[in-house]
Amino acid sequence: MNIELLNKNTSDIDSDIRVEFLTQDILDGHIEKATLDKAGFKAEQDSTCFLHEKGVLFCGLESKKSDDMRATTVSMIKALKASNYESASLGVAKNNTLQAMVEGIILGSYEFNDYKSSPKEISLKTISLASNELDFDELKKTFDEAVIISNATCFTRDIVNTAPQELNPETLAILASKLAIDNGLEYNIFGEDRLKEEKMNSMLAVGRASIHESQLIHLAYKPANPKKIISLVGKGLTYDSGGLSLKPAASMVTMKMDKAGACAVLGIIKAVSELKLDIEVHAFVGAVENMIGGNAYKPDDVLVSRSGTTIEVRNTDAEGRLVLADVLTYAQDTIEADAIFDFATLTGACLVALGQYTTGLMGHSHKLKHDISRAGTASGELTGSLPFNKHLKKLLKSDIADISNVSSKPYGGAITAGLFLDKFIQDKNKNRWIHFDIAGSAYTETPWDCNVYGGTGAGVRLMSEYLKGL
Ligand code: BES
Ligand code: ZN
Ligand code: ZN
Repeated sequence: MNIELLNKNTSDIDSDIRVEFLTQDILDGHIEKATLDKAGFKAEQDSTCFLHEKGVLFCGLESKKSDDMRATTVSMIKALKASNYESASLGVAKNNTLQAMVEGIILGSYEFNDYKSSPKEISLKTISLASNELDFDELKKTFDEAVIISNATCFTRDIVNTAPQELNPETLAILASKLAIDNGLEYNIFGEDRLKEEKMNSMLAVGRASIHESQLIHLAYKPANPKKIISLVGKGLTYDSGGLSLKPAASMVTMKMDKAGACAVLGIIKAVSELKLDIEVHAFVGAVENMIGGNAYKPDDVLVSRSGTTIEVRNTDAEGRLVLADVLTYAQDTIEADAIFDFATLTGACLVALGQYTTGLMGHSHKLKHDISRAGTASGELTGSLPFNKHLKKLLKSDIADISNVSSKPYGGAITAGLFLDKFIQDKNKNRWIHFDIAGSAYTETPWDCNVYGGTGAGVRLMSEYLKGL
């Protein structure tokens, strides 16, 4: 499906069907009001109504806010995909809703069909967005940026959705190097021999029982005169069985998505390099598979991390933090960044705290959390801040090592996981670091907003918006 922006009035476009978004007050004065009444169409959000003889599709719109525009565009694209029309046109009323419309179309029509032997054919070929009343150059810039960000989000979704027998630490490293070559990024990939030299024993322990070698992936986008340097760190558990602290069968299903943090940082660096932002961005990924076997790491093991901090393993299912501990240390040792952001499907507790739609933000800098939450609102991603405190920090005390990999109490698990990571953030970076727990927001088995079954691409729109604004 192709999406285009035209400097025309919609009535001058030769398309099979024209789409109109209607709020309730516009419906009241509409020329087709009587017909739409008969069809039972009340312009409610998520409702649609075709008037086939007139060649129009009406879509209900609650308000002209971006979030509602995006949701209505998703309803539109679903109705169009279910029809046999080949082309559709839609007018753009305001520049600041165009981004939401593009996202609604691209993200709402996303499908992952790699494993379907005969995916459903879709007639729709072209969607034309049109305006001849607004500044077209400005509109085109918004359109092009929104297309780049939406496609990067779909790139992230594709990797998340790829099955774990196909997507393992080694194939993820190959995929990342392809991205680097395609987008002119520098890259560096370390296998286990180099990880040992780098003393990344905490990360190595998690991947020990896997038949696939753990990989540290580092990509860098380096424009000529960068305004800022940003390090991104992603949890790339290509599968999380829980290890010897094995997950119950029902909780293990979907754990291919435990690489979503890694996939997000790859999507973000893809977007940034295509947007050609004046920001240097480094993406660090710890790609590991958490499995069982005779050589698996065990509860009771004590690991010596890259930073020298010793870690008592009390639960091998709290593996993401063990990988991130070393990758965060490596990222700080390698690059003096203005900000460090880690993305991880880190805790089930984050879903309990914030629900499945919201990314948990943790860190010491109120300003950074505030700026990111504003970018979240502007991008259409939901964020919620989870506060650190010294009492929760004490729950990570170990009697045998410097820190335990799990809290001694069952409450506040998303925050204690964030506080575990904090132990590996160097003092000079405390106010430069934010941890994003995307355990809920990265994957869905029921569609919501512009998300369909599978990976959502959480983090890509949010970070692209934040970095655009720097
Ligand atoms: N990958 C999981 C977290 C997760 C759970 C992500 C549900 C997405 C959906 C993580 O490695 C994990 O297993 N965490 C444990 C931590 C516990 C052992 C302290 C959890 O959340 O139960
Ligand atoms: Zn786990
Ligand atoms: Zn995990």
